[in-house]
Amino acid sequence: MSAPIATISSIGKYEGQSVTLRGWLYNMRASGKLLFPIFRDGTGTIQGIVPKAQVGDEIFETIKSLSQESSVIVTGKVRADSRAPSGYELDVENIEVVQRVPTDEPFPISLKEHGTDFLMQHRHLWIRTPRQSAILRVRATIMRAAQEYFDTNGFTRTDPPILTPNACEGTSELFEMDYFDDEKAYLTQSGQLYIESTALALGKVYSFGPTFRAEKSKTRRHLTEFWMIEPEVAFAGLDDIMALAENFLTHIVHRVLEFNSQDLKVIGKDVAKLEAIQTPFPRISYDEAHAMLEQAYKEGKIEHPHTYGDDFGSPDETYISNQFDRPVMVHRYPAAVKAFYMEPDPQDPTKALCLDVLAPEGYGEIIGGSQRVSSYDLLKSRIEAHNLPLEAFQWYLDLRKYGSVPHAGFGMGIERVVAWVCGLEHVRETIPFARTLNRIYP
Ligand code: 4AD
Ligand code: MG
Repeated sequence: MSAPIATISSIGKYEGQSVTLRGWLYNMRASGKLLFPIFRDGTGTIQGIVPKAQVGDEIFETIKSLSQESSVIVTGKVRADSRAPSGYELDVENIEVVQRVPTDEPFPISLKEHGTDFLMQHRHLWIRTPRQSAILRVRATIMRAAQEYFDTNGFTRTDPPILTPNACEGTSELFEMDYFDDEKAYLTQSGQLYIESTALALGKVYSFGPTFRAEKSKTRRHLTEFWMIEPEVAFAGLDDIMALAENFLTHIVHRVLEFNSQDLKVIGKDVAKLEAIQTPFPRISYDEAHAMLEQAYKEGKIEHPHTYGDDFGSPDETYISNQFDRPVMVHRYPAAVKAFYMEPDPQDPTKALCLDVLAPEGYGEIIGGSQRVSSYDLLKSRIEAHNLPLEAFQWYLDLRKYGSVPHAGFGMGIERVVAWVCGLEHVRETIPFARTLNRIYP
């Protein structure tokens, strides 16, 4: 009987047995009549041991001459080894080469350091390296946990369109395209306006999909195409979605700790920082956050003063979030710096009933949300004041005409959360193929 096909991540259950692994040669060390090939199979890496005396000349030479990233089918016996990163090694018995990478045109990503531009140019190959693969597995867990939270808490997934007739978040950030008969269409910036309508149909809903921003920001937090998950709840206000946001984020972090501990080790993330993520999260008002920044400026802890009434810049968000060991919820920003659809605070109508969740360790905003304007007249005047085309928003105004209720929701950017959870410098490593201001290849 031939050896059963196994994966590296679950190889432990075959200890002492022969298995078949299907994968690629990641790296190899040789020492005289001994070879130490490292194989990867998409679930992890494992070191093989190839003693010439044991396997014979032919197999030994086949492996010895293999170049990095050649594809192989390997059989070998699984042996526990406490020094091995995965806990196991493979005593190689046989190998079948599926495709040999030509030695005159080797795999471009060697194990030495490469510059970021080079790596991004070879992103289709870079994702094979252990750290990048680990990040993509964490991303997958975050996406699955995010959906799971809503699916198991009474939310119905309703997918909004990607092609839209108008802006949601701001007209300067729209990707425009030709539709039919001289009509224009725009790639969606957020599904929010549409899921407000599905929330009034179904009560608790969410959307999950790609969103697009044509903003010319060249920061480590901005992509032009990113994935957003957005819940929207009828008969809910700001306090309700703050409670939702903290439970939701905590669930996601717990799932990553549960499923990706090995990946976090490969990435080099301090898991104690993630274990600290527990409810309740601190809540501070915009005014309190401003006061913190004023104090910090006086004490020389930040370079530039924050002007009351302005939105927070990246360095401001970094400072604020660094004061806490878990995400901080900043609420009630000046209405003037926020979107047209946000409900004013009845206690102080110059403020919006909104929240931004700032991730710890200086990662900045990961969630933005608000209670929505529920009055027809107020919403109409807001649309006019923002110079938005009233005809395009007629259907959105209808929601305030037919059974309007207080409702609220938020959007969470997946890539920002992956960057925070994995401790990454830049969001470009959080998605298989990042789209940024100056890159759309590969
Ligand atoms: O704060 P934003 O713009 O909010 C909205 O779009 C609302 N309509 C959401 C809602 O209430 N349903 O974006 C929400 C989140 C941000 O907090 C951030 O995590 C992410 O989306 N985000 C980006 N991520 C990567 N690149 C960009 N350019 C992003 N812009 C926003
Ligand atoms: Mg925002």
